[in-house]
Amino acid sequence: MSTSTNSSPEKYPWQELAAYETAMDVAWNFSYEIDSEKLRNLYSKAKQNQWDAETQLDWSIEIDPSKPIVGEDRFPFLKLPFFQKLSKTTRETFVAHATCQLLSQFLHGEQGALMTAAAVTHAAPDYEAKLYSASQTFDEARHVEVYDTYIKKLGLVYPISPWLKEVIDATLQSHSFAKTMVGMNMIVEGLALAAFHNMRKQASCPLLRSLTEYVLRDESRHVAFGNVYLRKTIADMHPDEREDVAQFAFDAVRAMADSTGGVDGKGMPKPDPGFLLVLERSGIELEDFMKGLMEAGGAGFAAHLPPGHIHAFRDLMMPALVRVGAVTERTRELYKNADIPVWDDVRVLESMEDGTTGDIQMPN
Ligand SMILES: [Fe+2]
Ligand SMILES: [Fe+2]
Repeated sequence: MSTSTNSSPEKYPWQELAAYETAMDVAWNFSYEIDSEKLRNLYSKAKQNQWDAETQLDWSIEIDPSKPIVGEDRFPFLKLPFFQKLSKTTRETFVAHATCQLLSQFLHGEQGALMTAAAVTHAAPDYEAKLYSASQTFDEARHVEVYDTYIKKLGLVYPISPWLKEVIDATLQSHSFAKTMVGMNMIVEGLALAAFHNMRKQASCPLLRSLTEYVLRDESRHVAFGNVYLRKTIADMHPDEREDVAQFAFDAVRAMADSTGGVDGKGMPKPDPGFLLVLERSGIELEDFMKGLMEAGGAGFAAHLPPGHIHAFRDLMMPALVRVGAVTERTRELYKNADIPVWDDVRVLESMEDGTTGDIQMPN
């Protein structure tokens, strides 16, 4: 990896414009009336809690490439016997690249969030929802800015994982702001919130830790918005429309689970060009890596997650979908057949979201 702190990442062929056309719902609202006090409060808080990434964070912090920026806990499979047999240098190179690949997903995901929040601003029929989602759009722009600036210090950016792009593209092409919110505020942000929380705990780089804390504060409002507005929207829907949204949610959750090795993370993830590059750049043969994984599976090895690790599907995504009414009796059967438990314990979720009137919570 580059040791420079100011260099721009090298350009790769995949870093080109990926543009397509899609129909977009647009709803004017000339009443300018605010019906939801909760949304008014969230919007007020969004305005009060704006921050400037350029001045609020200490970008002068140097990143020492010889030291890991996250703890090895972040990558449970480093405990596999196969990884333990590798040299220290190879393991450290792997951690450096795998971290960069993960941060690149944060960067690309934030760009997706920027566009979906803008789409909700256009399409949501309620005035206060437009105001709030406009504030979220600006939050997401700031998140793109901070991850881009941080990754430039690492000097290397990885391509977006195909499954992440597919889920975000499906939300942008859904022609329904409710589906866009299911895809982004429930599913992608559920995954992101868990990843950010775990990153905040595991980051050994003070700049990474600090920027993740700032991002998490904004995200706690986004999750609250998803809950307040989507719950009302789904409750007001015709049952057929509700089933359509529930089906969209199931398809997105299943696609994500299938691509990432199942909800328990113990299955085989789908090949990811970015991760293949990580292996290549770390000098690890794919064949050896796969063999190492299979052997560990055969020996009954299960990668244990560190204490306090938040599980995206169990703790955030599924409880959020259940809570807003995006899981119906019909789709419960689909989840059951797909071996995806319909977790509905909202305790972790509620501890992480902005309660619209209370202070921002961050579990330890
Ligand atoms: Fe964000
Ligand atoms: Fe967000």
